[in-house]
Amino acid sequence: MAKNIVVLAGDGIGPEIMASGLAVLQAASEKSQYSFTFEHHAFGGAGIDAYGDPLPKETLAACQKADAILLGAIGGPKWEQAEKTPEAGLLALRKALHLYANIRPVKVPDALLDCSPIKSEIVKGTDLVVVRELTSGIYFGEPRQLAADFAVDTNRYHEDEIRRIIHQAFQIARSRRKKVLSVDKANVLATSKLWRKIAEEVAKEYPDCTLAHQYVDSAAMKIVQQPTSFDVIVTENLFGDILSDEASVLPGTLGVLPSASHSISGISLYEPIHGSAPDIAGKNIANPVSMILSIVLMLRQSFDYQELADQIEQACFAVMAEGVLTPDLNGTATTEEFTQAVIAKLEE
Ligand code: NAD
Ligand code: IPM
Ligand code: MN
Repeated sequence: MAKNIVVLAGDGIGPEIMASGLAVLQAASEKSQYSFTFEHHAFGGAGIDAYGDPLPKETLAACQKADAILLGAIGGPKWEQAEKTPEAGLLALRKALHLYANIRPVKVPDALLDCSPIKSEIVKGTDLVVVRELTSGIYFGEPRQLAADFAVDTNRYHEDEIRRIIHQAFQIARSRRKKVLSVDKANVLATSKLWRKIAEEVAKEYPDCTLAHQYVDSAAMKIVQQPTSFDVIVTENLFGDILSDEASVLPGTLGVLPSASHSISGISLYEPIHGSAPDIAGKNIANPVSMILSIVLMLRQSFDYQELADQIEQACFAVMAEGVLTPDLNGTATTEEFTQAVIAKLEE
């Protein structure tokens, strides 16, 4: 049976990298026993333009029935003043689907060693995962208020929300190097003190793994100083957002980092960690690797199509190793040229 993929291309470079990712998936799947149907829906700024709502009802309904969801990126200057912004729509989608576990793998392939602004002997072999809590914390805590002369945000965590994301981190660590680092600000924040206590409790259930703690300011420094020392980093919503963008400096661009978001119900959403990149949108120069690797994560984690995932991932890395790179990696390939090169590689 064909898998039903809901596609939310979104805004800015979202539709460009989505077209690339879907073309690669289509080419790879045609030669396989697997098939997919793609249902496109308006979301983000595109949802506002079409329906006056960044998360139109029919889009949410389609997502709830999908086998998996692919998201490009949302947002942009056009909608910054909207009553409900594209970003608010994204948070509403994550909340509605209970996508609490956001997995952001960061690998530096040898092909990109020269693209990193950090010395290659430091970044070589980097292979870490940021496990970011995605449906709670300061993004969602109440009360929140914006007045003319003061503003309030609330960081709030319930122990159950901490427990389930720490479990995710240990489960992932078990299939890797078995090292979990919990990142917090427990020297200051109450939420972090609770986070640390729950992390310690959960760790007892995983005696085959180690747990360490680090403050977020220090972890931010260490990620660029000694990236190969990390295996699994688990952290709250805001810290995970910041640390994962920081980690994109290791491969040299945000344009190669994918993510997977998992829920309790089983529905998962796959999206690059970056945004809609308004500065390069419409120029056919966006790096589609983040989207292609998000599709690879979907094939692995939602469908267990490991062979198809391997083929696409290997083709993508082989093309980069041959020096076919988009301008964010100092190359000259357009988005379409890179895509065609991956498709040609799949056919070799
Ligand atoms: P951004 O991630 O869109 O861009 C940051 C920088 O990285 C830019 O210079 C951009 O050109 C570059 N970049 C990002 N992706 C790239 C790619 N695939 N190829 C080449 N270069 C790439 O962050 P921003 O500029 O701060 O935000 C732009 C908009 O995106 C905002 O509206 C923001 O709210 C939104 N946003 C959305 C998401 C999402 O959809 N999940 C994530 C982050 C930001
Ligand atoms: C991300 C983005 C979002 C976030 C924004 C657009 C709401 O930065 O997906 O990383 O902060 O989660
Ligand atoms: Mn972000």
